[in-house]
Amino acid sequence: MLEEEYAPARRKPFHLRRIEPPEPPFAYEIRPATAKDLPDVRAIYNHYVVNTMVTLDTDTKTLREWRSTFAYVSRLGLPFLVAVSPTGQVLGYAICEPWIQKRAYRWTAEESIYLRPASTGKGLGRALLTALIAAAKEAGLKQLLAVVADSGAESSLALHAALGFHETGRMGRVAQKFGRWIGTVMLQRTVK
Ligand SMILES: CC(C)(COP(=O)(O)OP(=O)(O)OC[C@H]1O[C@@H](n2cnc3c(N)ncnc32)[C@H](O)[C@@H]1OP(=O)(O)O)[C@@H](O)C(=O)NCCC(=O)NCCS
Repeated sequence: MLEEEYAPARRKPFHLRRIEPPEPPFAYEIRPATAKDLPDVRAIYNHYVVNTMVTLDTDTKTLREWRSTFAYVSRLGLPFLVAVSPTGQVLGYAICEPWIQKRAYRWTAEESIYLRPASTGKGLGRALLTALIAAAKEAGLKQLLAVVADSGAESSLALHAALGFHETGRMGRVAQKFGRWIGTVMLQRTVK
């Protein structure tokens, strides 16, 4: 190596240095989902269907299926929320769906929450699930349940524990995805 190659790189004078634009703050609004949000909701969910075991769906969900889910939960008055960026991009959603379709179970719902991968780990999950719990209370629900895969869903388990869900049971090796057996963890939270 030549002697001059050891010399530290020269810094440009201050007025010639490139000024990096500041990263825009991570901002969002949480509001009830509308039919217009469903293509984004579908894209967010299908990413996890195709690439992960956090959902045990193996087939992607169509827009028609999302429209039907939207109409169903709307008819039942169950909360379905989205978090939206200032530019209108849906960053994530959270939904309550009937746990069992029998009238006696009408105060109990299963919730689920999915964020765009780039929007995870920044506190949005906590904000969105907190809003969903408040909306569930408003809707008259008494118990929220979540069924979480027993491996690969650490962030979901951490989020639910942080928001007062407790584990009520585990089932081992009840599903298979990508050629691997997987179990589920059942979580529950009373809505007060
Ligand atoms: C699960 C999910 C909604 C969590 O949202 P998030 O915005 O990433 O989580 P947050 O940044 O709000 O963190 C919530 C809490 O969980 C903790 N947490 C998040 N990810 C974690 C991880 N990988 N390991 C340990 N703790 C974690 C945080 O420390 C935080 O705790 P605190 O609020 O007490 O400090 C989001 O990661 C996601 O959409 N994941 C993929 C889809 C999914 O798994 N959905 C759930 C299906 S059951």
